[in-house]
Amino acid sequence: MRAVMFKAYGPPEVLTQVDLPTPVPRGDQVLIRVRATTVTSAECGMRRGEPRWGRLILGPLRPRPGVRVLGLEFAGDVTAVGPAARRYAVGDRVFGFTGFGVGANAEYKCLSERASLITMPPNVGYPEAAASVDGFTTAWYFLRELARVRPGQRVLVIGGSGSIGTYAVQLARQAGATVHAVCGGRNVKLVESLGAERVFDYTAEDFTTSGERYDAVFDTVGRSSFARCRPVLAPRGCYLPTTGLVNNVLALRTAVTGGPRVRTGMSVRKHAALAELRELIGQGRLRVVIDRSYPLAEIVEAHRYVDGGHKVGNVTITVAED
Ligand SMILES: NC(=O)c1ccc[n+]([C@@H]2O[C@H](COP(=O)([O-])OP(=O)(O)OC[C@H]3O[C@@H](n4cnc5c(N)ncnc54)[C@H](OP(=O)(O)O)[C@@H]3O)[C@@H](O)[C@H]2O)c1
Repeated sequence: MRAVMFKAYGPPEVLTQVDLPTPVPRGDQVLIRVRATTVTSAECGMRRGEPRWGRLILGPLRPRPGVRVLGLEFAGDVTAVGPAARRYAVGDRVFGFTGFGVGANAEYKCLSERASLITMPPNVGYPEAAASVDGFTTAWYFLRELARVRPGQRVLVIGGSGSIGTYAVQLARQAGATVHAVCGGRNVKLVESLGAERVFDYTAEDFTTSGERYDAVFDTVGRSSFARCRPVLAPRGCYLPTTGLVNNVLALRTAVTGGPRVRTGMSVRKHAALAELRELIGQGRLRVVIDRSYPLAEIVEAHRYVDGGHKVGNVTITVAED
């Protein structure tokens, strides 16, 4: 099968097209023919070997063999099942998240049927399904599980035009919150159209001096700090950063000191979020923002673009045509 592999940390050019044996499903695994995947900011970081502490997991000097084929999100067809697989059958259209095993930058991927995957709604295309997984489920984890956003609350989404951000704005709005967001000027209209009532253009305004107060400040892109956001947090509000090792320490400290809290973590088990995602996209109640699409053969170009830090929503990769 065709796949894209990297054997050393570095710029997009470390990615090379290779031929690998097609995996065979064992036990409760299903074999998925990947139709679409994405390039996320998180996996561009994996390719660069950043942040450095991440190399403890990925491989200290070079990526360990199990992570050399990137690809976190996927949508495709089940083409074979292992002898103990019960939940899926050949021909099912599925989408999901590969997790720490990555591997969706390939024509086929084997996953346990208990992994983060679910059947696709019939009316949704493969690129749209693939591009909905990580951003939505991460936004869901932070806003639903960590912050438990309720009707009437006020939420600020920093990075409202990114993958996580575009879903976070929609989810917070659907939860009944008043949503404000921060993004660059060219994306203000888009983020307003997703449900944000007020949008700060970070190139022209400073949201920390706005006089607004929020129950939750969700920094999806790691461009703020707890100290900077504290003035806009309600006394029992929470700061939700998706990145930054220091925030884990702050989360422990603020849990005992009182006042606004830092809540952070990683969205790993995604089953509950995927079930809700399936319903929302199936009913056309969630907008999936796709900025650019590339064929697998041009994935280096896609990584260059995502490395720039200004993608809008998601960047998809077509692995096999419909
Ligand atoms: N904790 C977890 O479970 C978890 C899961 C997934 C991802 N992550 C992490 O989350 C981070 C973000 O991921 P993502 O894919 O959502 O990001 P993304 O899509 O790459 O974000 C790009 C967007 O950020 C906006 N942006 C750039 N600088 C900004 C600023 N100073 N203020 C506001 N917006 C700004 C850009 O808008 P402009 O073009 O206008 O600048 C662009 O639209 C990554 O670092 C990833 O590693 C964490």
